[in-house]
Amino acid sequence: MDAPEFDVAGRNVLVTGASQGIGEAIAKTFAAAGASVAICSRSMDRVGPVAEEIEAEGGTAFATECDVRERDDVEAFFAAAAEELGGLDIVVNNAGGEFVAPFEDISENGWDAVVDLNLGGTYRCAQVAGEYLRGEGGTIINIASVNGQHPAPGESHYGAAKAAIIRLTETLAVEWADDEVRVNCIAPGLVQTPGVAETLGIDEEAMPPREQTMRRIGHPEEIADLAVFLASPAASFITGETYTAKGVPRPGNSMSHDLGLQ
Ligand SMILES: NC(=O)c1ccc[n+]([C@@H]2O[C@H](COP(=O)([O-])OP(=O)(O)OC[C@H]3O[C@@H](n4cnc5c(N)ncnc54)[C@H](OP(=O)(O)O)[C@@H]3O)[C@@H](O)[C@H]2O)c1
Repeated sequence: MDAPEFDVAGRNVLVTGASQGIGEAIAKTFAAAGASVAICSRSMDRVGPVAEEIEAEGGTAFATECDVRERDDVEAFFAAAAEELGGLDIVVNNAGGEFVAPFEDISENGWDAVVDLNLGGTYRCAQVAGEYLRGEGGTIINIASVNGQHPAPGESHYGAAKAAIIRLTETLAVEWADDEVRVNCIAPGLVQTPGVAETLGIDEEAMPPREQTMRRIGHPEEIADLAVFLASPAASFITGETYTAKGVPRPGNSMSHDLGLQ
């Protein structure tokens, strides 16, 4: 069956933080759907092989080093991506990270680092994305977190930054509606990635049954599929929204369990 409303083939997609985890899955899923992708991380040694894998599968991928905390890097990445791919249609602001600590132990440096990576990186990339997408019918997808919707102990800095990303998404959707730019947000629950294994010490086998309705951790591809939908024509009347994917229907934070901080 032909379903052109879900088609992203031929679109040019930029994804930040795509050397592993959710960003890698988003890049590979868009590429498998026929889109061309431009991807970055702080290390070409880490993000280059992802582009090579996409190309080996017959896709089109451009990779470069870019630290989303640096304005010059971001501007250079967008310019190179637009040049390589022949313009940009879709931007996914995925790069992010955190460390877990009780609020009283978070130093000025620690607070600034987490807020600047998550919120500052999204601010910077969205602002530069606007130069390429406004008036062109493009779309932006910001990756927030359930921690931006519900409190999680030990994640005050990260939760505050992710909550701000949700509000930034809403504001940009309003400001850029007349420029034909849709701006949406995804708030994942716990998803199995190298970052989660490293930061939270959680792996799939170690997941307790807990009150998680679906009784399992999410997979990066399950976030990637949602990103492709939000970027597709099927989502043409959706802007300023945050879509949660956490495997549990009721209010609550699927990430707040078992961190030893409750
Ligand atoms: N996994 C989850 O459970 C979960 C839940 C909710 C929200 N999220 C959000 O989803 C996004 C991806 O999470 P993940 O779990 O896939 O993370 P991850 O496994 O730690 O991967 C993070 C990616 O971002 C890149 N990155 C980190 N700092 C960067 C910087 N300054 N500039 C450019 N790239 C940078 C990393 O590449 P390099 O190290 O090579 O630079 C890596 O590719 C993040 O925004 C995270 O907050 C994740």
